[in-house]
Amino acid sequence: MVLKLTIFFCTIFFIKKVLALYEHEKLVQEKVCFDRIEKIVENQYKTIHLTCNWQKFVDYGNKNSNNKIQNCNETELIFHQFDFYLPFSDPKYVTLKKDLFKNFRVQSLSMKSLNLAKIEENAFEKESFKHIVFMDLSSNKLQKINTNIFKNLEVLEKLNLSNNKIALTENNFQHLKSLKSLDLSGNQLQYIHPNVFNSLNRLEYLDLSNNNLEKVDACTLSKINTNPITLRFVPPIILMNNNPIDCDCNIFYLNRVLKYRLNLTCSTPKYYKGKEFIDLKNEDPSSTCKYKTIIIFGLLICACCCCCKNISKSNRILELKNTLRIKNEQSVNNGYYTQIPTKNDHSNLIIS
Ligand SMILES: *[C@@H]1O[C@H](CO)[C@@H](O)[C@H](O)[C@H]1NC(C)=O
Ligand SMILES: *[C@@H]1O[C@H](CO)[C@@H](O)[C@H](O)[C@H]1NC(C)=O
Ligand SMILES: *[C@@H]1O[C@H](CO)[C@@H](O)[C@H](O)[C@H]1NC(C)=O
Ligand SMILES: *[C@@H]1O[C@H](CO)[C@@H](O)[C@H](O)[C@H]1NC(C)=O
Repeated sequence: MVLKLTIFFCTIFFIKKVLALYEHEKLVQEKVCFDRIEKIVENQYKTIHLTCNWQKFVDYGNKNSNNKIQNCNETELIFHQFDFYLPFSDPKYVTLKKDLFKNFRVQSLSMKSLNLAKIEENAFEKESFKHIVFMDLSSNKLQKINTNIFKNLEVLEKLNLSNNKIALTENNFQHLKSLKSLDLSGNQLQYIHPNVFNSLNRLEYLDLSNNNLEKVDACTLSKINTNPITLRFVPPIILMNNNPIDCDCNIFYLNRVLKYRLNLTCSTPKYYKGKEFIDLKNEDPSSTCKYKTIIIFGLLICACCCCCKNISKSNRILELKNTLRIKNEQSVNNGYYTQIPTKNDHSNLIIS
């Protein structure tokens, strides 16, 4: 009996392992995907490129949902690169559901032009997506992105969200600590929350072109790369063509002080209308800029003066107190009596 059980469990274990390793072959056999093994490193680390029919993949996932396979042994890493094609307007296929990638280690995911309208909260779960470096969700119908959707993608380097209708929330990108390239073009963005880019301090490329942005806040964008070395040698590229952009001090500040490479055409003020910023970058900024700079500098100088004054004042007071104390002690020691003189006190007796 014990022997039978052992054999049974061993067989199950073995089958599970084999299934996990060859899950992609099943997909291929069932004509859900075509595959290509991209690379084998030391006979262990494989990259399997799967080009799949989106509809069939969803159906396959639903069919096999009760048959989830354990993740592979960490030392036998197999990565999957997914490329989907064929959109369907059937509502069944416009939501990216959780657990769909449960059996895979996704390294790259390309889901462009699939009519996707929704991504479920846990669609990119940690076990399957902790190795992902590339994600393309462009040209879909995504609108709202839940705050936590990208929370497991800590090694993601490239994210393409272009040509959707995404409205960003403050914390959308807060876990994407490795992100180098972000494409948000063509999303009808009018406003960007000042904290959206706070965690993206490795970003080298940001595409905000083809939106409805009028104002660019220097503080919002100054967070995107905080490493002084990369800032100096590889300053971030920011594309903002085709926006009704106001070329105010913020833009000049980003270019002159932070050295960002900006690509945009100015809409306002009038005298810069229609001009490429690249041709203006050595221009004298508008008078409002000078005015603002003067005010800021003025305030800074005032604050400094106040501080210095306070310090020297408190130092002087301390010194005075010290001398008086020493004097006092000396006088007491010598049997003298000294009174600290106060203002309007004409009776300050010093008996000697
Ligand atoms: C994973 O696989 C390696 C080699 O294939 C093996 O040495 C190791 O014991 C395995 N670990 C587990 C937890 O199965
Ligand atoms: C993002 O996707 C769009 C449309 O698929 C493509 O034109 C664009 O080049 C991509 N952006 C990047 C940075 O690769
Ligand atoms: C910058 O904009 C110009 C014109 O709008 C365009 O020709 C050029 O390719 C853009 N540069 C980059 C890096 O996209
Ligand atoms: C200067 O000192 C006073 C009290 O001694 C304090 O109330 C004030 O905040 C200080 N000002 C600055 C700028 O530190």
